[in-house]
Amino acid sequence: MTEEPLVLGIETSCDETGVGIVRGSTLLANAVASSVEEHARFGGVVPEVASRAHLEAMIPTIERACAEAAIGLHDVDAVAVTHGPGLAGALLVGVAAAKALAVGLGKPVYGVNHLASHVAVDQLEHGPLPEPCVALLVSGGHSSLLRVTDVTGHDGGMAPMGATIDDAAGEAFDKVARLLGLPFPGGPHIDRAARSGSSVAIDFPRGLTSQRDLQRHRFDFSFSGLKTAVARWVEARERTGEPVPVEDVAASFQEAVCDVLTRKAVAAAASEGIGDILVGGGVAANSRLRVLTEERAAGQGIRVRVPRPGLCTDNGAMVAALGAEMVRRGRRPSSLDLAADSSLPVTSVLA
Ligand code: KG4
Ligand code: ZN
Repeated sequence: MTEEPLVLGIETSCDETGVGIVRGSTLLANAVASSVEEHARFGGVVPEVASRAHLEAMIPTIERACAEAAIGLHDVDAVAVTHGPGLAGALLVGVAAAKALAVGLGKPVYGVNHLASHVAVDQLEHGPLPEPCVALLVSGGHSSLLRVTDVTGHDGGMAPMGATIDDAAGEAFDKVARLLGLPFPGGPHIDRAARSGSSVAIDFPRGLTSQRDLQRHRFDFSFSGLKTAVARWVEARERTGEPVPVEDVAASFQEAVCDVLTRKAVAAAASEGIGDILVGGGVAANSRLRVLTEERAAGQGIRVRVPRPGLCTDNGAMVAALGAEMVRRGRRPSSLDLAADSSLPVTSVLA
């Protein structure tokens, strides 16, 4: 192929129907339809509602992406799709759509890992991925530190160094937001409220950072104790009849999360002698996390890359970006019996 491959990526692992189109590492289109408003009143994503919304949004979103990229479907060289991890019924819609497209167009299909896509997306903005790098992956369903030597997963290229032992970082943001009466999903609302609060107003716990915990869980995370501490603090405050200082709670909670995430990410990179940290996943959109990671990494001479917020939250461009890497590195396409796998491990990047 003389020209770089044109890849269409489909993402349906949660509540965003995303269709992205890239040529090599150039972003051409990133169309996203979200069903988030249909879930808001339930305080979390309702799987059946998400699946139906994907079904309704799929074709219009594909059409929108093609129009945005000014291409016709027949121009596409390969189709990539998230086949896990995520909600089973939601993934199924994307996988079925991708297979139908691949068969109809006579082009290969690549079933890829959602988490690896959160890492691969950065090259659309900042150029070729630094390999090796340490990836701090923080989303609504996952929080982990990975040693990335090959984002396509070849030869153990995505090696876990640590992960959350309970809640994911994004889940903690969503639960604390709910406690504070902020809408779902809570991350962006906490981020905004925290800007007018004090991050040192309340000293919330930093999970798995004591000397004893560090021996067994050096690069692991725990956020459920923090969430409980916030709940207790808010309840105690409510009992006094005084108003809850939402901005201060938000800022102090956010600081506790970002403090641990950045401390461990920098320590992980330093321990491996790796000079680059890449932050990915929905929580990477957090403004404080972005600043604090930069600050702490710079102190150790480590570079940081974080995609712009619109590429951090779930989208199809990230899937297309990883698909394009699969093509570029000559990886074998998936077979047409490709299945959705809701609990796909991060080490399994290509089906
Ligand atoms: O990656 P993502 O879009 O979906 C999953 O794969 O889970 O991540 C969604 C998560 C939600 O928990 C949301 O609250 C969080 O990312 N999030 C944020 C921000 N924007 C989104 N968390 C903190 N600060 C933000 N600005
Ligand atoms: Zn995600």
